[in-house]
Amino acid sequence: MIQAKLAQTIFENLTIAVLWFDQQFRLQAINPAAETLLEISAKQAKGQLISELFPDMSLSGRSLLEVLQNHHTVIEHGIRLHLPLARLITVDCSITPLQDEHAKTYFLMELTAIDQHLRIAREENLLLQQQAARNIVRGLAHEIKNPLGGLRGAAQLLERELPDPRLKEYTTIIIGEADRLQNLVNRMLVPNTVTHKKWANIHQILLRVSQLIASEAGEGIIIEHDFDPSIPEIWADSDQLIQAVLNIMRNAVQAMNGIGQITLRTRISRQMNIGNKRHKLVVRLEIIDNGPGVPEDMIDHIFYPLVTGHAQGTGLGLSIAQSLVNQHGGLIECTSKLGETVFTLWLPMEYGENGV
Ligand SMILES: Nc1ncnc2c1ncn2[C@@H]1O[C@H](COP(=O)(O)OP(=O)(O)O)[C@@H](O)[C@H]1O
Ligand SMILES: [Mg+2]
Repeated sequence: MIQAKLAQTIFENLTIAVLWFDQQFRLQAINPAAETLLEISAKQAKGQLISELFPDMSLSGRSLLEVLQNHHTVIEHGIRLHLPLARLITVDCSITPLQDEHAKTYFLMELTAIDQHLRIAREENLLLQQQAARNIVRGLAHEIKNPLGGLRGAAQLLERELPDPRLKEYTTIIIGEADRLQNLVNRMLVPNTVTHKKWANIHQILLRVSQLIASEAGEGIIIEHDFDPSIPEIWADSDQLIQAVLNIMRNAVQAMNGIGQITLRTRISRQMNIGNKRHKLVVRLEIIDNGPGVPEDMIDHIFYPLVTGHAQGTGLGLSIAQSLVNQHGGLIECTSKLGETVFTLWLPMEYGENGV
């Protein structure tokens, strides 16, 4: 027999979404995984009827009747659910009738998000691929960096020895181009710097970036803040996060040609998987712009190094941002359509603290 307290802890830490209904199908309890999946809070949801919680759930009538009459588990696959924030998810659902010691009936509902499984598998794959691509670029950058110093030094020596000053034009080009390449190569190598993590306020970081962007971009860009003030401090390297958000916002400004709106939204998510790690509390930061969107044929590649849609672009901004956020145990994702591009940064609250 499991003690009540332990049972409660297990209930709260289950990765599967669990809802607990009484005989009238009124909600009695809901675990954090279900709160996150359904985007509702236990407080709001408690006492609601199953039909109020899931007004468009096709299973309600027939299956519920079956559970009631036959007293065995009913399982339905691939049910579509509309969430309060207009998001649509697909779940597998099982409902099991249970009785307590007073022979009172309860119903246990378990929901597994199918899209989430697909997402996690895809996510892990993507992370590995992006890391591999970054390693290749980093290796290449190192190989270029070393001879570059020699090349530049030799051109300088040559310049001093040249009898005809007009020939200096050529050494100037060599030195100038070597410097440009050096610059590029240095940027490719940036993300490997050591992190200096401290407790940091995500909103202060965002205000700082907003300031920088406002002064760079001018009045054409309106920046909106939609912050959840209850978000606690996170264990992070502020400078690195500033850099990551800056790279994303600069792209937005560029995509909108300097005229448009950027919204920064922060929320908390509970019991989230990122890659193959599970986190209790994760900050979700959305950077939303109302520009033309990422070209469809680019959307799957934008986090790879050297992928760019601009003639003058380096294609390093998002790859560096992703790498910096990965170093915080987090992840950046992007969804985009005409008029709405959303970059979502998932940042675990305590990653790297006490070896978490
Ligand atoms: N908010 C956005 N809206 C539209 N396209 C975007 C946005 N952010 C990034 N992109 C696309 O992703 C590409 C890669 O961005 P990035 O890695 O920063 O490299 P760069 O800015 O040097 O091109 C951009 O060139 C652009 O085509
Ligand atoms: Mg960029």
